[in-house]
Amino acid sequence: MRKPIIVANWKMHKNMQETRDYLDRLGDLVFERVESVLCVPFTDLIVLKEHGESLMSSIGAQNMCCRLEGAVTGEISPLMLKELAVEYVIIGHSERREMFKESDAMLRRKMRVAHDVEITPILCVGENEEQYIAGKTTVVVCEQVESAFSVLSPTEVAASVIAYEPIWAIGTAKAATPEVANAVIGIIRQHIEQSYGQETAAQVRILYGGSVDANNIGEFLAEPEIDGALVGGASLDPDIFREMLSKVDELTKYN
Ligand code: PGA
Repeated sequence: MRKPIIVANWKMHKNMQETRDYLDRLGDLVFERVESVLCVPFTDLIVLKEHGESLMSSIGAQNMCCRLEGAVTGEISPLMLKELAVEYVIIGHSERREMFKESDAMLRRKMRVAHDVEITPILCVGENEEQYIAGKTTVVVCEQVESAFSVLSPTEVAASVIAYEPIWAIGTAKAATPEVANAVIGIIRQHIEQSYGQETAAQVRILYGGSVDANNIGEFLAEPEIDGALVGGASLDPDIFREMLSKVDELTKYN
């Protein structure tokens, strides 16, 4: 069975002191049936690392360079993330694809290098509103998945995480319906099965993201294809994030 995973994406929020306060309020939560990851700004990673064993979530970054070292001004190396105990990294969030023009070629290199240094990539895919209205969702997301995974072995694909995030649902309070999200994720899984086989498709964890909160997370996680959530705005409040984890943990008990 795939273990549910709830990923907080703080985006560009919280300084180091706010991060300490957040962790104090989050407490030492242990939910055995659900994994949690905190993807925080680079400067806050050190605070998470200092928290040490009492941090019950895995440490995640929101981006990294596609090279290990060199003349790349302003970038952060995957090896620098390893030093900070980072286990997950978000790759290709739509905000980076759009604002920083991250290309498919660059995302492929990031996927490759993430596996080379043994950081689990969380690959974001999703259609924009125009593509959604034109009925192109599955074509767009399957192409994004295929492109990013083309440099990986089936074992590496199985160990990756995908987040399906319709761009029109991010930060808008207009989440996709759980049924639609489940259907799209099911198609992504079928696509992976065709390329990499049944075993790989059965192992890869595929999340939904876009306006997930404590009220709707249960509906998404109740869907059979949805293995977790990538949570932006609602993850910024530790009480809400804890509530979300506890709901998923409770739900998983009955599966
Ligand atoms: P949101 O963001 O939960 O605030 O919609 C999700 C994301 O961008 O990962």
